[in-house]
Amino acid sequence: MAWEIIKWILFAIVLIFALMALTGAPYVPSKVAELKLAFTKLYKLSSKDLLVDLGSGDGVVLKVAGDFGAKTFGVELNPFLVLLTKWRLRKYKNTKVKCGNLFKIDFPADTTVVYIFGDGRDIQGMIDTVRKQAKKLKHDIYVISHAFDLPNMKPEKKYRAYFLYKISHK
Ligand SMILES: C[S@@+](CC[C@H](N)C(=O)[O-])C[C@H]1O[C@@H](n2cnc3c(N)ncnc32)[C@H](O)[C@@H]1O
Repeated sequence: MAWEIIKWILFAIVLIFALMALTGAPYVPSKVAELKLAFTKLYKLSSKDLLVDLGSGDGVVLKVAGDFGAKTFGVELNPFLVLLTKWRLRKYKNTKVKCGNLFKIDFPADTTVVYIFGDGRDIQGMIDTVRKQAKKLKHDIYVISHAFDLPNMKPEKKYRAYFLYKISHK
C-alpha cells in the first residue's frame, strides 16, 4: 500500500516536470560558481538590491543572491520546486518565492535587477514583462540574462555566458 502511494507521488512529480519542459523552459539550475562571478564581475550585487528570478527553479539564484546581501523574490510554476526553495531558504529572512506564472506577476516595488535563465521561446515575453513592470514602478531595472542575448538589444556588459541589460522605464 505504502509502495503504491510512493509510486503515484513519483509519477505525479515526473509528469509535472515533463509538462513544464513542454510548456516553458525546462528545469536546469544555474551553477553556484558562475553566479558568484556574475554577481561580482558583471553586476555588483549588494544589500541595496532586490533581485527577482523569473522561473526560480530550486532557488539556487535566490540563495546565492541572498549570500551577497540582496533581497530576493522568485516566481516558479513547478510547485515541487517552490517547496524545495522554501525549505532551502528557510533561514533567509529577506526572500520570498511564489508559485505562479512569471508572465503574470507584479514585481516588488524596490526591484533593481531581474535574473533570466529561460528558454529561447520565452525571452521576448520575459523582457516584455520586465519592461511593463519598469514602467509601472517608474524606475529602470537591470536584467542579467544567462545564456541568451536579447533580441534587438545591445548589452551594457558581457561576462562569460552572462549579458547585462538596462531596461528603461520610459
Ligand atoms: C532553466 S530553469 C532556471 C532556474 C533558475 N532560474 C536557475 O537559474 O537556476 C527555468 C525555470 O523556469 C520555470 N518556468 C518555466 N516557465 C515558467 C513560467 N511561465 N512561470 C514560472 N516559471 C516558469 C521552470 O519550471 C524552471 O524551473
